[in-house]
Amino acid sequence: MGCCQYFAPIEGNADAFTVEMPRVTFGRGALSEIGERALGWGIRRAALFTDPYLVESEHVARARSSLAGAGIDVAVFSEVRIEPTDDSVLAAAEFLKDGGFDGVVSVGGGSVMDTAKGALVYAKYPASFATYFAPPVGAGTPVPGPLPPHVACPTTSGTGSEVTGLSVIRFAALNVKFVLASRYLLPDEAIIDPACIDTLPPTVVASTGFDLLSHAIECYTARAYTRWAKVAQANARPMIQGANPWSDLHAVEALRIVGNYLERGVADASDHEARDCLSWAATLAGMAFGNSGTHLPHALSYAVAQMSRDFRPPDYPGSGTFVPHGLSVIVNSPSVFRYTAQAAPERHLEAARCLGGDVRDAAPEDAGEIVSSKIVSLMRSTRVPNGLSGVGLTKNDAVALADSAIRQSRAIANAPRDTGLDEIRDIFEQAVSYW
Ligand SMILES: [Fe+2]
Repeated sequence: MGCCQYFAPIEGNADAFTVEMPRVTFGRGALSEIGERALGWGIRRAALFTDPYLVESEHVARARSSLAGAGIDVAVFSEVRIEPTDDSVLAAAEFLKDGGFDGVVSVGGGSVMDTAKGALVYAKYPASFATYFAPPVGAGTPVPGPLPPHVACPTTSGTGSEVTGLSVIRFAALNVKFVLASRYLLPDEAIIDPACIDTLPPTVVASTGFDLLSHAIECYTARAYTRWAKVAQANARPMIQGANPWSDLHAVEALRIVGNYLERGVADASDHEARDCLSWAATLAGMAFGNSGTHLPHALSYAVAQMSRDFRPPDYPGSGTFVPHGLSVIVNSPSVFRYTAQAAPERHLEAARCLGGDVRDAAPEDAGEIVSSKIVSLMRSTRVPNGLSGVGLTKNDAVALADSAIRQSRAIANAPRDTGLDEIRDIFEQAVSYW
């Protein structure tokens, strides 16, 4: 495609990209449409996935009421683990196997939707857990075929999981998250009701907002799809296929919204305009990264979540210590973009401009510093942790973090610069603190 120099054709490389999308409905009150939509997919008996903290919520009550109104029989599965593991997903698959369901409705954050996706796979196509994951952790066997219908309804504004064919699951024995990816994991229907995020506390809006911010910049600065090898068969084209004109379109708009509304949405739960826009931006960023893939900030985030000690996030339910996904990503992002900018300076500058940064008279060599400084200023104003040190890690952890992160080979290869173990260690060392 000649519309952009970034996608200039390269002899022998990919010359096409594919867009995969569910049907999307967005608007306040849209949860009331769940029943009619589920019925349209032939669902007469639904498994309703949610988590222990949401099961008594108004959102789940509205979903149940809509399903009941459509005459759909419902059984609730609320044992979703926040940060799902292989064991928790397999337990959910057992629930599906035995229930006589003809579809799934998920109401919750990324953990709920990702658990539903994984459970649908292992209930329909039982296998050892690593089978469908990419090497080196998995066997790389494709998910064999279609799954029962899935209506996904997010209650946070970050993950974008409602519009992606990706599911992030932690392998308990290795204590590391890996991504299960297949077009068959795409929900059939995404229903986004921004009223669900009215009650989210500030730290949750900040964490999920930075998740979506990084999704958008990572998509926009990812290796161009034309720099990946051409696939031999259409069905072999991966979901992590690199930046492309479709992902650009959505990433740029998501960044513009984040630049305008993230601070407002964190500061004021009653600011419906800001929270509605963040909710829409999360879906846009999902439409982008579900068709391009993310790169280094996400690849490195799983090691951060694995190795962080004693970080207890404020505003999150439960008493456990863990690093919420968006925070584990954003502590890496400024350091990553300082490193990647030289490979695509114009894209890093455009990302900074969309976020509201001043790029007038900026030279290409300034791109990394400008976009990173803009992200850091948003981190400071929304009071998220100051780099790795803010989540209990030090410079001495950089080697072990890099050793863990290097296993995320596909996402690392999606970065615009070739990146090895030494570079990842350096990125972690530069991510210890930013102010
Ligand atoms: Fe993410």
